[in-house]
Amino acid sequence: MKFSVTRQPVNEIDETCLIIFVRQQKKSIVLSSFGQAVDTACDKNLSGLIKRKQLDASREHIDVLFEPYGMNCKQLMVVGLGDVEKLTKAKTRKLLGHIMSSLSRRKIEQVAVSPADFAGPDADDPLDEQAQFTQLLVEAAYANQYCYIETKGEVEKKNSREKTKAPAKFTLLIENEKDKGAVQRHVAIGQAIGEGTNLTKNLANMPGNVCTPTYLAKTARAIGRKYAMPVTVLDEAKMKKLGMGALLSVSKGSREPAKLITLEYNGGDKGQAPVVLVGKGLTFDAGGISIKPAAAMDEMKYDMCGGASVLGVMRALGELKLPVNVVGVVASSENLPDGAANKPGDVVTSMKGLTIEILNTDAEGRLILCDALTYVEKFKPAVVIDIATLTGACMVALGQQASGLFSNDDALAEALLAAGDTVGDRAWRLPVWEEYQQQLKSNFADLANIGGRFAGAVTAACFLQRFAEDYKWAHLDIAGTAWKSGSSKGATGRPVGLLMQYLLDNLGKH
Ligand code: BES
Ligand code: MN
Ligand code: ZN
Repeated sequence: MKFSVTRQPVNEIDETCLIIFVRQQKKSIVLSSFGQAVDTACDKNLSGLIKRKQLDASREHIDVLFEPYGMNCKQLMVVGLGDVEKLTKAKTRKLLGHIMSSLSRRKIEQVAVSPADFAGPDADDPLDEQAQFTQLLVEAAYANQYCYIETKGEVEKKNSREKTKAPAKFTLLIENEKDKGAVQRHVAIGQAIGEGTNLTKNLANMPGNVCTPTYLAKTARAIGRKYAMPVTVLDEAKMKKLGMGALLSVSKGSREPAKLITLEYNGGDKGQAPVVLVGKGLTFDAGGISIKPAAAMDEMKYDMCGGASVLGVMRALGELKLPVNVVGVVASSENLPDGAANKPGDVVTSMKGLTIEILNTDAEGRLILCDALTYVEKFKPAVVIDIATLTGACMVALGQQASGLFSNDDALAEALLAAGDTVGDRAWRLPVWEEYQQQLKSNFADLANIGGRFAGAVTAACFLQRFAEDYKWAHLDIAGTAWKSGSSKGATGRPVGLLMQYLLDNLGKH
């Protein structure tokens, strides 16, 4: 997909399909000044249709006029915005998804659209609204284009590609040359987020026998090569030297060696403290000796979605070249039952020195993450954000709408919540109060790895918090938001959007 930003008289636009927006105001249908220019070029065709009540401006209604008179384009796609007063960002996203699938279905190769036409005559901040719209459009194009083909046969691969064929070229029409910079910048942001998100989805959707810890390490190395980011991959021997007894206790039940993967993106000033992202990368979680029930166990290939989101963000940063320092860490292993696997009651020693009684081997995410959280102290981070499909309890609490957010720093929590709101990738904060720590008491170690029946998402976060005392820390539990089940089973790419917006919002503030 190519996106270009240009100024052009409406009757010269020669892309196959020109999109225009119509809005409903009280009982009448209103055209923007761009719409009016199109109307003039095609000899009042549009206003004629409006007069004769043959045009529908209700939201998501799409009319297509073929071979419009006086125009160079082959199709005029007239998209209803409904009442623009009620048009939220979420609704715009949905509308754009609808437009993209209509374009794909009709196999349109080239599209032209005017962000100013979308912003309309009543925009409070027209340039900002054009820029926002542009980013949403680009992101929607990427989301529509995504299609999993990695492990399909040739015939199915071709079919799937055909079904999601996206337009090859989008032309964003601007009215003033001075708007070009802002629109172009938001094309770039949308592309970076789109590509990062699609990488995250693809890694997540791959089966556990393909996407192993070693595969994630290879992917990280490829990103590192492409964008000149230093990459280090610790193998089990190196982790042993560092005393990562909690992480290694999980991987010793698996034949796939664990990897602790680090990518460094240095876009900011030298010496500027980095934002550190730590992702849970369990490429398959069977539960270990505390084995999970068989139903839907395949979905535990998604237990690496936190790690995949870190790689997606690093890729997006490489594309966008934001002026910020970010360290991305993926702690990766499998969790399987085996003669060498952790047993309930086993006590292990973490890198921090705290001993942990493993009362349930299925609470492995925190065992992996706690050592990663200690490891990242060496980066002297401005903030550390971990991302993990950590608890079924978080899904029970918040459903598939919101990720769980936990933090030891109010400003960091607020910033993450705000970023999620902005991009429609929302999180909801839950407490990590001292009072919950008593649930993690053990008679045989410094702490237990489970906290009983109540507040499972909170006690998991409280466990992690014990290893994150020396810096500002936030934890995103994405168990409910990272993928969808059922007939539309597939990764969502969340929370790449939230994390990128957080980085964009906080440039220069770390
Ligand atoms: N990866 C799972 C959490 C999970 C389960 C995410 C289902 C999404 C859907 C995690 O490792 C796990 O098994 N957690 C246990 C913790 C429990 C043993 C305290 C859980 O949630 O059941
Ligand atoms: Mn588990
Ligand atoms: Zn898990």
